[in-house]
Amino acid sequence: MAATHAFGIDIGGSGMKAAIVDLATGELVSDRFRIDTPQPATPQAMADVVVELVREHEWDGSVGCAFPAIVRNGVVGSAANIDSSWLDVDADELFTEVLGAEVHMINDADAAGLAEVRYGIAQGRQGVVMMLTFGTGIGSGLFVDGALVPNTELGHLELDGVDAESRAAASARKRDDLSWSEWGDRVNDYLRHVEALFSPDLFVIGGGASKRTEKWLDRVDINTEIVAASMANNAGIVGAALVAP
Ligand code: BGC
Repeated sequence: MAATHAFGIDIGGSGMKAAIVDLATGELVSDRFRIDTPQPATPQAMADVVVELVREHEWDGSVGCAFPAIVRNGVVGSAANIDSSWLDVDADELFTEVLGAEVHMINDADAAGLAEVRYGIAQGRQGVVMMLTFGTGIGSGLFVDGALVPNTELGHLELDGVDAESRAAASARKRDDLSWSEWGDRVNDYLRHVEALFSPDLFVIGGGASKRTEKWLDRVDINTEIVAASMANNAGIVGAALVAP
């Protein structure tokens, strides 16, 4: 495989997706495989899926992995939407051991942001860029002149007295049976809060709702430029591939 190719895995609460990425263009150069995230999503069960995904692609080399939690030097530091047995696990070490190839992990929203800053809608943007992903939780990736400030975890800011992601994540819209406008109002409250704290130059919105902005974006009234992510489903995989050792 050419040296410009890297392998990325995007681990989410419901699915684990992987592909080979061309680092020159940020494009996938293989099929994208997806396997349901095992339940309970324990370290060993997920490690087995990682091995399967790598084997399916016949990939022989290091691997980058996006993960829905705080990841500091490979060690998992939170477990909001994954099995609590992940806490304090050295995921770099575990996956490296089961795969027999070097693995490096990164927070999922940080990975998506890296991809958007390198290849996508935020390419070349200077200043403060804030990637926010709306899914099961809310993920955040903060970039200053293109450099990542990792593990910002802004989905857990307090909003209306509760954890913000429990009000404004995409999962909250379904759980609370909200109309898009009602959900858009919650997202607006959230964005205004983040805007007041960080005064970013640009918000990049990722997750499924970023493809349906016509349904809710008119509810958002902020002073900051806001755009939908451009790499949608692939941002996590591509960002993960970027951090492969
Ligand atoms: C987690 C973050 C993650 C986000 C999106 C949150 O609950 O704490 O680490 O980035 O969900 O998956």
